[in-house]
Amino acid sequence: MVSEIVYLNGKFVPYEEALVPVEDRGNLFADGVYEVIRFYSGQPFLMKAHMERLERSAREIRLPEIDIDALTEAGLETVRRNGIGDGTLYIQVTRGPAPRNHAFPPNPRPTVFMIARSFARPGEELRGQGVSCITVPDIRWLRCDIKSIGLLPNVLGKQQAKEAGAFEALFVRDGVVTEGTSTNAFAVREGRIVTYPEDEHILPGITRRLILAIARREGIEIVEEALKVGELDRVDELFISSTTIEVLPVVSVDGRPVGGGKPGPIARKLQEQYDRLVEKVASGESIDDFI
Ligand code: PDD
Repeated sequence: MVSEIVYLNGKFVPYEEALVPVEDRGNLFADGVYEVIRFYSGQPFLMKAHMERLERSAREIRLPEIDIDALTEAGLETVRRNGIGDGTLYIQVTRGPAPRNHAFPPNPRPTVFMIARSFARPGEELRGQGVSCITVPDIRWLRCDIKSIGLLPNVLGKQQAKEAGAFEALFVRDGVVTEGTSTNAFAVREGRIVTYPEDEHILPGITRRLILAIARREGIEIVEEALKVGELDRVDELFISSTTIEVLPVVSVDGRPVGGGKPGPIARKLQEQYDRLVEKVASGESIDDFI
């Protein structure tokens, strides 16, 4: 097998040679931020928005300034060098290596790492039949708007979902659903899309933003408010979104059916419009202006 080519600190190197010092602050403190960007037929999907979010995340944790244009170019090159068609680009920026000490090192040298991997779109089975979720307490910190690599509550939640035979765990804080462990969550109530507002309790998903832009164009009303966990079995539809899974209907939560236990028409409509945008991107058009 030909080795993967990884981007590390300005160089493209074989996977085996992409080594980071043991005292990298990403390793010691999860002191870093990341992005996951989708590619279809080798073309980036909403990369500009992802890079802007990376820039913001980096700023919020006070990383030294990063050159987003250079990083975008390097990201595109990483995808090209690995011949990725449908896949993802993972970008991680940490505060770099330094002797272990909680406070910032005097002259941080960030570690920038990127890897591109093939990733298939969700199949018709998942899209058509929907997925099940469980709920878990949202034990995360109060800056979930930062795409931090500190993901232990998310990891534990997803593992709990897996062990329960579910696809995703939905976080519940103060009796309301915030988001999934790696997805944003939406309900449909009386024809309106209800989703948690953009604040420090959720990641402002790029897919979330795209879905809301599609909904607006389709004339679907949007209500950005918290959904009570007790209301879940009374909503007409529930669905989750992310860069990797796109839009997936949720048909049960904690073993109870949602929306009659079947995917609903609004999720379907959003999936159809999403597919159109994927086709556009795959044919080389940018949809950066859509959101
Ligand atoms: N996760 N909420 C959380 C907590 C997430 O980790 C993600 C993405 C999302 C959806 O954001 P977006 O639409 O921008 O992908 C919401 C990525 C895919 C991951 O960690 O792999």
